[in-house]
Amino acid sequence: MTQKLILVLDEGTTSTRAMLFDRAGTVQGVAQRDLTQHYPAAGWVEHDANEIWTRTLACALDMAGQAGGARNIASIGITNQRETVVAWDRLSGEPLAPAIVWQDRRTGEACAALKAAGHEAAVQAKTGLLLDPYFSATKMRWLIDNVPAVADAAREGRLALGTVESWLVFKLTGGQAHITDATNASRTLLLALDGADWDEELLALFGVPRACLPALCDNAGALATTAPHLLGAPVPICGMAGDQQAATIGQACLSPGETKATYGTGAFVLANMGHTVPRSAHRLLGTVLWQLGGQRTYALEGSVFVAGSLIKWLRDSLGVISSAAETEALARSVPDNGGVALVPAHSGLGAPHWQPDARGLITGLTLGSTKAHLVRAGLEAMAHQTADLAAAFAADGAQWSCLKVDGGMVANDWMVQDIADILDLPVIRPALAETTALGAAMLAAVGAGIHASLPDAAAAMRGEAERFMPQMDGGTRAARNAHWRAALSRI
Ligand code: G3P
Repeated sequence: MTQKLILVLDEGTTSTRAMLFDRAGTVQGVAQRDLTQHYPAAGWVEHDANEIWTRTLACALDMAGQAGGARNIASIGITNQRETVVAWDRLSGEPLAPAIVWQDRRTGEACAALKAAGHEAAVQAKTGLLLDPYFSATKMRWLIDNVPAVADAAREGRLALGTVESWLVFKLTGGQAHITDATNASRTLLLALDGADWDEELLALFGVPRACLPALCDNAGALATTAPHLLGAPVPICGMAGDQQAATIGQACLSPGETKATYGTGAFVLANMGHTVPRSAHRLLGTVLWQLGGQRTYALEGSVFVAGSLIKWLRDSLGVISSAAETEALARSVPDNGGVALVPAHSGLGAPHWQPDARGLITGLTLGSTKAHLVRAGLEAMAHQTADLAAAFAADGAQWSCLKVDGGMVANDWMVQDIADILDLPVIRPALAETTALGAAMLAAVGAGIHASLPDAAAAMRGEAERFMPQMDGGTRAARNAHWRAALSRI
């Protein structure tokens, strides 16, 4: 009998993918569809929830075909862009509004009002999060307040709210399951980090009706089963996690202190903090890393909103590059940044600054500045944003001894070396950069009993890694840091 495979659905911000893994972690197939980004007003970012669903299903069907049929798939793992909110009609299964994406800033004023009313300290103590439009609760309330179809559905008991994994499971099960896993739930502002269920006080504060929300579940186990007609056979969904938690698992940050950074659309650093609820005094986030058998492991997180999206902006909006791959040669073509600094605050500043109104900035331009300087300054910003997080983690007692990196941007050797140089730490890059999907595959393998535990899954499924050692001299590092701080202070 041929070996059964694991199907991962990796629904990111800019594309949705399906991947097949075998039990040794080898990728047996990949399908990808891009997602349309809608920017209907300044600071707004929306997705079409039906497009997310149909393109994810199309990728899943490609992979089911490649597997020789859904009966050869042992287990599905789902991982997703977090915080993004979908509102749908639980009777018709149709979306009631565009999905509000995590980058969307439209609830900035609502967050500021809650902050001004003195709620942030209590919210942070409970949820580990801050009052920023990034998180889901104010987006949910905005939909109820501003979209009549959503308000009507809420009144008539038809409204379902959820993050993207919740929406996908609802569709995959033909409307049978409305669930969310603990990692995604921990990004909503509606779950206390040590609470078993949605928190009544938080539901009241943000005005989100409990009846609209999904049931909470573990990150691995027999979570749901796909409707038989969809893929050609029913397939158990056995793993589910927000993409940054999945990447942390895929990087095998399974013990306290182990830390990873993913450079995708944004850059997200998570450090495993074990079973103790993390408390940050330096504007980092406390979040659930995974929940298995009802027991939670936590992480400290630093979320940077703009990473790969800066390269996309340089390519699609400014046209200074025609592909992301060009950035490495351009950065190497000049000896330094030529005095240019780029602060990528295009979606506001996340950790550790949390300035939703901040906007991107380029400083130090002269007539001698070239696109190579601009691109180099943009890549340098990745190292500096990471170093700002490193300082906050250290101040919170979670000093890094090395950093594991992944995500699309780390294909750029120059950038990875620059991160090692500015952090003055070893930086480790796995041969398989698809750590988000691998983490979801590991959860799905554990949930289906293919591997007994996450450490067993890591031992069986993870491959080689490459180490970048710091090479920059202290004087150059200090000058670079001063240049970055000067630009940042002008925001
Ligand atoms: O919190 C947002 C994050 O989950 C988005 O991830 O992979 O689309 O950058 P990504």
